[in-house]
Amino acid sequence: MELLQAQNGLAGSITVPADKSISHRSIMFGALATGQTTIKNFLRAQDCLSTLNAFKKLGVPISDDGTTITVTGVGFSGLKKSQSDIDVGNSGTTIRLMMGILAGQNFTTTLFGDDSLNKRPMQRVMTPLQQMGATLTGKASSEFPPITIQGTKELLAIDYQMPVASAQVKSAIIFAALQAKGTSTIIEKEISRNHTEEMIRQFGGEITTNGRKITLTGPQTLVGQNVVVPGDISSAAFFLVAAAITPNSQLHLKNVGMNPTRTGIIDVLKQMGANLTIENLDTNNQAADLKIETSALHSTIIKGEIIPRLIDELPIIALLATQASGQTIIKDAEELKVKETNRIDATAAELKKMGADITPTEDGLIINGPTPLKGAKVSSRGDHRIGMMLQIAALIATGTTMLQQPEAINISYPDFFQDIKKIIVGEHHE
Ligand code: S3P
Repeated sequence: MELLQAQNGLAGSITVPADKSISHRSIMFGALATGQTTIKNFLRAQDCLSTLNAFKKLGVPISDDGTTITVTGVGFSGLKKSQSDIDVGNSGTTIRLMMGILAGQNFTTTLFGDDSLNKRPMQRVMTPLQQMGATLTGKASSEFPPITIQGTKELLAIDYQMPVASAQVKSAIIFAALQAKGTSTIIEKEISRNHTEEMIRQFGGEITTNGRKITLTGPQTLVGQNVVVPGDISSAAFFLVAAAITPNSQLHLKNVGMNPTRTGIIDVLKQMGANLTIENLDTNNQAADLKIETSALHSTIIKGEIIPRLIDELPIIALLATQASGQTIIKDAEELKVKETNRIDATAAELKKMGADITPTEDGLIINGPTPLKGAKVSSRGDHRIGMMLQIAALIATGTTMLQQPEAINISYPDFFQDIKKIIVGEHHE
């Protein structure tokens, strides 16, 4: 499809869609708690619908009246064996967190995904769960999906030092530890998003965090809650960068989730000189409104502990860096290679087609700026975040940009193109 340009700037306000990580977990915790959970502002995008359908297949009653999702919790002992293998589509969060949940069940389940998911590494989750006593096998004895999980009601607690910084791996271990008898300790490589820990507390469970160390004792019982999902800062990131790099722009983003384990993008934008203001910060539900304007940007170095706090934002940060003066270096981000695509290669190759000065490295990217971008034939490569990043690049490019596989964006943001259209000055709005 032909992407939109923004010759006259961007203006207006956007309420970005609900947080993907919290939406997945709200279904999971709702299912595993006792009593009812209601979820408002659930993200009705492909990835989260994969989680919703997976729990329906495990016998959890879930209804949706268009505004509120209601989950009738069955508790950790109430899940039922699925009649058939479960398709989790493109969703790494669904498969990895479910592996931890299913490790504690006394039945066998097979989870599989699309071509992209079936190539993503699962050993990182299988190893700790196997140590806890569950049996997990990948396709033809590999670490790749389909993954068959033969759970046990006799899971053992674990002391585990994580070799990768990953909230998905951490969360899978936590879900298993909630069902194991005894105290488990997890030490993170770097602090990653903590939605699972926060939601355990919200649902009446107990978990302690001390820096990179997490401690919890099982088995626990959770109680259903009313969840209101805030907007996703990872979706807001595309608009933050769009306004910063497009001349004559000012945007307001409403109700953006501000969990500190997710706000690395704000730190980077500020470091690079962006005119960004945080308004109406509500510390209770960790959300705020953000105001951002066209900005004179300079380069920075992004490495170390900040990486997990902005891991999904690195493709759009790379685009930001193409418009900043000087050399931006992104390192310690080798995890990008095992996302929905190899995001180091995809970001570099697709932006290069548009004239960017960008070089992939073993664990990141080196970008020299500023460089004017020009229209090209580009592809999302089936990765939602690469697709959205390329539409933002097209806003400031000269000439026509054609995007192949635009439908990938439905994974996290089905209304993305409508929302972009709304904020382009001079576009017709219906
Ligand atoms: C997620 C964790 C991250 C992130 C993904 C969502 C989560 O993955 O990239 O989009 O909801 O836990 P990793 O844990 O593999 O880093």
